[in-house]
Amino acid sequence: MEKKIAIVGTGYVGLVTGTCLAQVGHNVICSDVSEEKIRILENGECPIYEPGLLELIRENVRQGRLSFTTNVAKAIQDSEIIFSAVGTPMGESYEADLTYVKQVAKTFGENLNGYKVFVNKSTVPVGTSEVVREVVNSVTNNEFDVISNPEFLKEGCAVEDFLKPDRVVIGVDSQKAEDLMREVYNPFEKQGYPIVFMDIKSAELTKYAANSMLATRISFMNEIARYCDIVGADVTQIAKGIGLDTRIGPKFLNAGVGYGGSCFPKDVSALIESGKHDNYNFDILNAVKKVNEEQKVLSVDKITKILGNDLTGKTITLLGLAFKPQTDDVREAPAQYKIRELLNKGAKIHAFDNIAQENFQKENPHFDITYFDNHYDALENSDCLLLVTEWNEFKELDFDKVKELMSGNLIIDGRNIYNPSHIRSKGLEYVGIGRQ
Ligand SMILES: NC(=O)c1ccc[n+]([C@@H]2O[C@H](COP(=O)([O-])OP(=O)(O)OC[C@H]3O[C@@H](n4cnc5c(N)ncnc54)[C@H](O)[C@@H]3O)[C@@H](O)[C@H]2O)c1
Repeated sequence: MEKKIAIVGTGYVGLVTGTCLAQVGHNVICSDVSEEKIRILENGECPIYEPGLLELIRENVRQGRLSFTTNVAKAIQDSEIIFSAVGTPMGESYEADLTYVKQVAKTFGENLNGYKVFVNKSTVPVGTSEVVREVVNSVTNNEFDVISNPEFLKEGCAVEDFLKPDRVVIGVDSQKAEDLMREVYNPFEKQGYPIVFMDIKSAELTKYAANSMLATRISFMNEIARYCDIVGADVTQIAKGIGLDTRIGPKFLNAGVGYGGSCFPKDVSALIESGKHDNYNFDILNAVKKVNEEQKVLSVDKITKILGNDLTGKTITLLGLAFKPQTDDVREAPAQYKIRELLNKGAKIHAFDNIAQENFQKENPHFDITYFDNHYDALENSDCLLLVTEWNEFKELDFDKVKELMSGNLIIDGRNIYNPSHIRSKGLEYVGIGRQ
């Protein structure tokens, strides 16, 4: 049955959640405090780059199932189910900052005009549902329930992930709330996607466990890659060799420039901090984090080993600025760390990213970078190409042209996407990550 749903926080997660819930037949109003975001959406555009999302937004707006507002209070009053999808950024001491979640809880409480449920879609530390309950109870006597429904979508593939989920995790402690959530996710259940109900704390922790496990795989492979560099082995062959083991599986086994983005770094840190709060030390996650910090600047070490520690007068061209392909999200992008190091060593930076460039520029106004309109222009008179994000257009570079354009000959393949012998056959020097 169609439900009246409000989304509070129309960012990457809120907008995808709202649009996809409208797509399966619900009546959804997406709200946000950002007037700019809502104006863009009301004008029929999309504030983020996410393949397939704009088409779906337009279709559902046309069908009358999806609308947008800056009036968060009214969106809550008019709905029965309120999904909170606000940010939970890394706080000053690495814990999850719950400021926005608490703000939404207060607004939710102040606008309760009958039974409603607060569905937490943000990634939050175990126990946050209790914090939400307390905030809501401090402003209302009305009946409500708090639900944990963590989101597992991947930027760049978010629409598909939401509409065809591996699983939906729902933490509830009341039958009434469970029944409502079954109705919300009924279109997914009918298609055979697993809807897993559990207690609220376990649901909250499931999200951190998932991201921490994925980050662990990445740091593990980055360590194997470092050892490959010492002993002369090839980490891409090893990934194949272990990935075919059905107990391990082939995904998330790519060594590279370190994990980044708006989730893994903050979620690993937040889980470590939650543990500390409960007198528990996450030994593995501390190591995962340390390896990643080092990995983010490892490619700079590879450059200085060849070009020298003083990079004054050298031009380094970064191809890719987003933390991964198919997104314009540059939060915690490894490119930032590399650029800072390279600038500190005196290098001149050229950069190109067709989709994320504008965001990167906005987020890093203090960096002295020359941006270009295409990758070949960016490579002109460059001493070194540093591949950071494996966008498809970079996979198909014409290395004859690259050789002609560059003044130097160093190719640092931060994502192991090139064929080393092909590049060497063009008279260029190839350096990968754990690959000879
Ligand atoms: N981005 C991802 O890939 C992803 C995936 C899974 C889970 N998550 C989690 O989902 C949550 C949201 O992440 P995001 O990337 O969508 O964040 P985001 O920054 O893109 O969006 C958050 C939105 O909330 C709005 N907001 C803040 N305070 C508000 C308030 N009081 N009322 C209304 N709107 C308010 C902001 O203006 C912003 O548009 C985080 O907890 C994140 O960890 C993110």
